[in-house]
Amino acid sequence: MGQAEIDDHSGTETTGHEWDGIKELNNPLPRWWLWTFYISIVWAIGYWIVMPAWPLISGYTTGVIGYSSRATVVERIEEARAAQSKFVQGIAAASLEEIRKDPELLDFALAGGRSAFSVNCSQCHGRGAAGSPGYANLNDDAWLWGGSLDAISRTIQYGIRSGHDETRFGDMPAFVTDETLTRAQAGDVTDYVLSLSGTAGDAGAVARGAEVFAENCVDCHQPGGTGNPELGAPNIADSIWLYGGERATVLESVAKGRAGNMPAWTGRLAPATIKQLAVYVHSLGGGQ
Ligand code: HEC
Ligand code: HEC
Repeated sequence: MGQAEIDDHSGTETTGHEWDGIKELNNPLPRWWLWTFYISIVWAIGYWIVMPAWPLISGYTTGVIGYSSRATVVERIEEARAAQSKFVQGIAAASLEEIRKDPELLDFALAGGRSAFSVNCSQCHGRGAAGSPGYANLNDDAWLWGGSLDAISRTIQYGIRSGHDETRFGDMPAFVTDETLTRAQAGDVTDYVLSLSGTAGDAGAVARGAEVFAENCVDCHQPGGTGNPELGAPNIADSIWLYGGERATVLESVAKGRAGNMPAWTGRLAPATIKQLAVYVHSLGGGQ
């Protein structure tokens, strides 16, 4: 190698490399870049010493401050538990009515109730609790078993036809299957039931159906079909249907009976969770 070549144009030394007549200048690295580079090296060494860094055969170097993100999470969870325990205890000690009147407890109960609902209830009642045929809509103010806080809480605790000793139980007989009514009578009473919510049917059938209704249905559904929450007998005059208001569906309810099943939650969910659920369901719109 001879003497370093100086580029005519810039006056800078070249590296001696040349491609297609283009020569590479030997500029020094910018100072800011070099310093950043050195500082990163120093920082990395410091980091290895202070923080957990190197995997070992079993375990890892813990670093002088012994930081652990897992420990931090555990600590945060403990803190959150401690912050919540005041509310959890408050809910356990308060009556449903007291929870509803205390804005702080109410907020906490609604948030807890909403999340417990999405885990335990939404598979049947739907995300927004709007239900589907056979699965009660919990947003409206039509209640099979009553919409007071206590009634809702009881439904959640013991379920409906759940097999629990305290379960809510009401029977919708299978009138045609059991041969209590003929198909024709079931058809007539169906026309009568539909007339209660304003669907006009054949006048003769409706009149005959009214008689069938008076003999077979009023005990549970009450005169005019307004229902009885003691027995879970729905209001069948309000155009809100559990199973559906198509003629064929109503006829099927009458002919084959219905027996919706809602599990009991006592023993499966903590009492405080059931309270939060009751308050949440009550708040959905139709609470009485
Ligand atoms: C396996 C399906 C299923 C699950 C899970 C379920 N339910 Fe139900 N629920 C039903 C059915 C079916 C009915 C209607 C029963 C009937 O026909 O009387 C019902 C009725 C109700 C009622 C009574 C509505 C009324 O009009 O009186 C309430 C309140 C209720 N459910 C709340 C809940 C809550 C809260 C949960 C979660 C903890 C839940 N349900 C989970 C199926 C379910
Ligand atoms: C022993 C009480 C009882 C008697 C008697 C009875 N029902 Fe019911 N009925 C119920 C109950 C309880 C339900 C709700 C079943 C359920 O939730 O699964 C019901 C549900 C229904 C439904 C479904 C309502 C909906 O919203 O989808 C119709 C329709 C109905 N009954 C009509 C009749 C007619 C018509 C008669 C007389 C021929 C009658 N019921 C007699 C208790 C009774």
